[in-house]
Parts: sequence; structure tokens; C-alpha cells
Amino acid sequence: MGLSADNNERAIFATKFGAVATTVGSAVGLGNIWRFPYEAGIHGGGAFMICYLAFVFMIGIPLLCAEFCIGRGTRSNIFGAYRKLRPDRNWHFAGYIGILASILILSFYSVVAGWTIEYCLSSLFGQLDFSDTQTGHGQFVNLTTGWRPVIWTFVFLMCNFIILIGGVTKGIERASNILMPLFFILLAAFCINSFTLPGFKEGVTFLFKPDFSKISPSVLLGALGQAFFSLSLGLGCMMTYASYFNKDNRLGKTAVTTAVLDSSVAILAGIVIFPAVFSFGISPEAGPTLVFEVLPYIFSRFPGGAAWSTLFFLLLFLASLTSTVSMSEISITYFCEEKRWSRKKATVVSSAIGAVGGLLCALSFGPLNHLTIYGMTFFDMFDYLSSNICLPIGGMICSIFTGWLINKRFVKDELTDNGKHRFRLLSLLLFFLRWICPAAIFLIFLNSIGII
Ligand code: TRP
Repeated sequence: MGLSADNNERAIFATKFGAVATTVGSAVGLGNIWRFPYEAGIHGGGAFMICYLAFVFMIGIPLLCAEFCIGRGTRSNIFGAYRKLRPDRNWHFAGYIGILASILILSFYSVVAGWTIEYCLSSLFGQLDFSDTQTGHGQFVNLTTGWRPVIWTFVFLMCNFIILIGGVTKGIERASNILMPLFFILLAAFCINSFTLPGFKEGVTFLFKPDFSKISPSVLLGALGQAFFSLSLGLGCMMTYASYFNKDNRLGKTAVTTAVLDSSVAILAGIVIFPAVFSFGISPEAGPTLVFEVLPYIFSRFPGGAAWSTLFFLLLFLASLTSTVSMSEISITYFCEEKRWSRKKATVVSSAIGAVGGLLCALSFGPLNHLTIYGMTFFDMFDYLSSNICLPIGGMICSIFTGWLINKRFVKDELTDNGKHRFRLLSLLLFFLRWICPAAIFLIFLNSIGII
């Protein structure tokens, strides 16, 4: 498999390409294809896009660098890493936020991944009807109300479980190496198709033309949450992956590559979805169901639509798996390394908790949809709490920690590989980690609770 044992018992990625592909594999998933278009849709398109991109570059890249430095420098999970670097304080409580967030995310993520399995199989067996909007919506309602989604959520969690029980990243690296480029190509092909749709201009204008008057506290918070979610930031996931990086991995470069590839996939997905939204008269504000209602129409325009649809949902399912595997690693490494549990026990317990959360989220579209808190179902609540609250808080702690509390020398050594190459932007990076990232996150929080 792709990993080889390191002398101090932790595995490392065999190749640099593999390490980058796996990191991108964690970042690219439903966050790009499903969450980005629906969040952009409800938050006014262009206004959301510009905030999202600003956050990816201003906050995302510096935080990726920070998580990479801490992870590779300490070769530990988030708890061990914070403790090793600052034994005097309880900084590692950030790890608990990470575990909470990873379980919340796993719960609703598995439901959506379950929908992809359902759509993949339905297309394969010719049960998806690609004719008009009413059927698109009707089919979605059909597939997601009742108990069926619970079954698919569990099937997905089972797949996740099987991969995890096999060892750290066994097989994932190899799979990501092939699948991520393939997924990218397929998406690019659908993107080209968008140019031929009657709603192309309207869709692209919606997505790219910022209407600054639409930037509201909820747009800012939504875009911040999306940047964190999409880059797998804020809960120590990238830290854990970086702890498997080779010493010669240039962390700054890997951070930029990850951010650029990840946001390109999100933008491509937007170009695929929005022209179709306007061509077929669907509301861009449909919410979490948007992509699943729209995609079947896109496929119906292709000869052999069902085959394309099957392939697309299959790849999306696999992209989701590489993401859930990465988020499950947080709680598993915690139980294994901090609590000294066996990997098997840790995996069983984490998956079981995920299954309970998954059950609540899967039923949110059917039997439990009237059960709401502040107008949010379990599904919405889990998503909101994790992405918009826990991840930015985790990120804020990480940036303050890296910017202020750990030795500058440590950060420099990691980024330059002990001086082997230059990292010219070190001062700028530290400036961002010290001031810009924590301040921006803090202000957005204050803004969204109405204080400023
Ligand atoms: N980034 C992934 C996506 O876009 C989801 C994900 C994987 C994630 N690991 C994470 C989100 C850790 C937050 C934290 O689909």
C-alpha cells in the first residue's frame, strides 16, 4: 500500500504526489459539489463567492500552513500536538471541539453521501427519470422521505468503517491518486456542457457578479464556514494528515496547491449547477436539495445520460469516502493514542456514534422534519453548529497558537525544511496568523450575533 512505516512507528506517505493527492482528497468532497452550490444559492451567488474566495486565501491558506507545521513538526494527533508544543496550558481542549465537530459533520455528511449511493444505483438500474422539473423534485422527495435514506446512510457508514478498520490510510492514497484527477476531468466535461445551456449567461452572472449590497452578516458567516468546511480546516484533520507527510514536503506549496485545487473544484461545480438552475427554472435557493434536483436534468441532455449519471454519482460517492475517512481519523486517533484503545474498538465506537447522529439527520427530511430548534432540523443544526461555529473557533485557536505561542523557529524550520529552502513569506504568514485570521473570525462572529 501507499504507506511505509516510519522508524517511530507512525506511517508516512510513500510519495509526495500521494501526500498531496490524499490531502486534496480530504478537502474535495461533498463540500465542493453539494454544499458550495447550495450555500452560494441561498446567499445570493456572487456576493457569497467573493467572500468565500477572500476567506480561502486570507484565512484558509495561512491556517493550512499552520496545521501542516504543527502536524508534521510534532507527528501527533491534535491533542498530542498541542500538548507537546505547550505542555503548560490546556490548549489541547481545542481537540475536544474538533472531535465534536467531526462527529457532527460525519452524521449529516453520511446522509448526503447516502443520497449519492441511492442516485448512483437508481441511475444504474434505470429508475431515475430525467424528464422535467416536477419529476426532479418529486424523485428527490420520494428518495429522501421515510426510512430509505437511513439504510443508505448506514451503508455509507459501513463502507467508511471497512476502510478505516484496514489501517491508517491503507489504500486511500492509491485510490485518491487515480480518482481525484478522474473526478476533475468529468466535472470539466460537464462544465463545458453548461456553455450550451440557455441559462448559461444568467447562471454565470449569478455566480460571479458580486452584488455588494447583498453582503450581510449571514453571508459572511456562511462563506467563512464554507471556506473552513471545504478545506477540512479547524478540527485538526489537516494536522493529522500532515503528521504522515514526508520531511521533504514543502508545506507552503502543498497548502497553496490544496487551496487552489479545492476552490477550483467548487467553482467548476458552480459552473455546472447554476446555468442548469436557470435553464430549468429551479430556484437557486432550494437549499440542501439543490444539487440533487438539478443534476438529473443535466445528465438527461447527454446521450447515455443514465451511464453518465451513474459514473458521476459513483465518483462523488468515492470523493465523499476519502473525506469522511479523514474526518473519522480525528476521533479514532484520539481514542487510540490518548486513551490507548485498540484501533478496532476506536473505529467501532466512532462509527456507532456517527450512526446515531446519521439516523437523526437522515430522518430530518421525513419523520423528524417537524422537530426543529430555531427553525432548524437536526440536519441543519448539525451542519450549522459544526461548520459555522466549531470549525472557525478551532481555526481561531490554531492561528493564535501558531502565531503567538509556539516558537517562531519551529514554524520556520518546518516551512523551510530546516533551512534547506527559502520561505520568503514567513513574516507575512505570521502576521496573518497573529492578527488577520483571529481578528477576522472574531469580527464575523460578533457581526453575526448582531454586536457590530
Ligand atoms: N472538506 C471536505 C469536503 O469538502 C469535508 C471534510 C473532510 C471536512 N474532513 C473535514 C470538513 C474536516 C471539516 C473538517 O467535502
